[in-house]
Amino acid sequence: MTPTLARWLLLIILFVVMVMEPQTVLVVQGQQQVPCLFVMGDSYSDNGNNNALFTLAKSNYPPYGIDFPQGPTGRFCNGRLVPDFLAQFLGFEKPVPPFATARGSEILKGVNYASAIAGILDETGKIVGDRISLNRQLQNHQITISRLALLLRNSSTTVNDYLRKCLYTVNMGTNDYIANYFLPPLSPRTVLQTPDQFSVFLIQKYSHQLRTLYNSGARKIVVFGLGLLGCLPQELSTFPTNGSSCVDFVNNAVELFNNRLKPLVNDMNTNLPGAQFIYINVTSISSGDLTSIGIRVVNAPCCVVLPIVGICAPGKLVPCSNRNEYVFWDNIHPTEIVNMLAATRAYNATTPSDAYPTDIGRLVQQ
Ligand SMILES: *[C@@H]1O[C@H](CO)[C@@H](O)[C@H](O)[C@H]1NC(C)=O
Ligand SMILES: *[C@@H]1O[C@H](CO)[C@@H](O)[C@H](O)[C@H]1NC(C)=O
Ligand SMILES: *[C@@H]1O[C@H](CO)[C@@H](O)[C@H](O)[C@H]1NC(C)=O
Ligand SMILES: *[C@@H]1O[C@H](CO)[C@@H](O)[C@H](O)[C@H]1NC(C)=O
Repeated sequence: MTPTLARWLLLIILFVVMVMEPQTVLVVQGQQQVPCLFVMGDSYSDNGNNNALFTLAKSNYPPYGIDFPQGPTGRFCNGRLVPDFLAQFLGFEKPVPPFATARGSEILKGVNYASAIAGILDETGKIVGDRISLNRQLQNHQITISRLALLLRNSSTTVNDYLRKCLYTVNMGTNDYIANYFLPPLSPRTVLQTPDQFSVFLIQKYSHQLRTLYNSGARKIVVFGLGLLGCLPQELSTFPTNGSSCVDFVNNAVELFNNRLKPLVNDMNTNLPGAQFIYINVTSISSGDLTSIGIRVVNAPCCVVLPIVGICAPGKLVPCSNRNEYVFWDNIHPTEIVNMLAATRAYNATTPSDAYPTDIGRLVQQ
């Protein structure tokens, strides 16, 4: 082997190790950086809460979970989701359990309340059946808090002292756009509100909900902005693109929301004593040259999707085998490799625009 070739091989091996095993790069195993992790969100975070609901928004069947050790769990992915990776980076032994099935003392490490098709608005996702809106996720958190009070009643720690040390992630709003405002045939909201008015309306509700979370004892709160929803295969198959590679009017509407969400985070940190909110710029963390890590297909799903709803068809239809070459698993949800990259950059920002005012890794050290 020539020295140049050897050097290249070493570089490639190092790169693969860094990409495939971020937890070994990021943290020392076995030491939890926060006592607990609470997750609120939609199908980008749901790890089984919708399984028992009366809804079409379910994914507890193959091929979902094809790369997940337990198979299909209700995760809308071939493998792990962003909260699964974050739990791993934070030194947790396993992902936090779904609220629907969490029992006993396991809630001391946190709970996942996320529900597919749910939104900031209660009405969002109604068309496909039941779902747990952000308002109801906040109510479920109150149930967890009273259970925690019982579990901690003989310890010297009060519930509030315990909760202030926990990490909270909130990733909401995607469905308020794709399953409400831009749901064809166009929803009444589209007629009543311009994209600008809708973003103001959503931010007003979200602001109230984030304050409710703060008032229930949360201090370290990670708020995820929305990604480029106009580039989802679901939107590309629904709307004309007018020659662009994405549906620009969807991206433009979502940008109005993001541009109001970041200042909201600032507001919270300024006005609420002890608040440590951070904003994750999903547009920024999903940017960069994906071909350098082997991703080739950016605008088509890996699995065979059901028409209109865009989630994987149940049954024996075989998904693509080269899943690490796809951005999208189905028409709406990213593949595991993309979730891993996103979680990695949210935890340890690659560029200053990834996380504001700081990233998750630094937030939990504060
Ligand atoms: C964050 O990533 C940089 C490389 O971009 C690396 O040097 C550093 O060790 C990482 N920090 C943590 C806390 O993992
Ligand atoms: C708390 O202490 C009481 C009385 O000592 C005991 O009966 C109870 O089982 C304890 N509860 C927990 C959760 O440890
Ligand atoms: C399509 O693009 C052209 C050129 O940029 C623009 O003039 C036109 O308004 C666009 N149409 C729609 C429906 O967005
Ligand atoms: C997110 O990051 C991108 C750069 O990738 C930047 O153009 C955009 O303004 C940022 N958005 C917000 C709300 O900060």
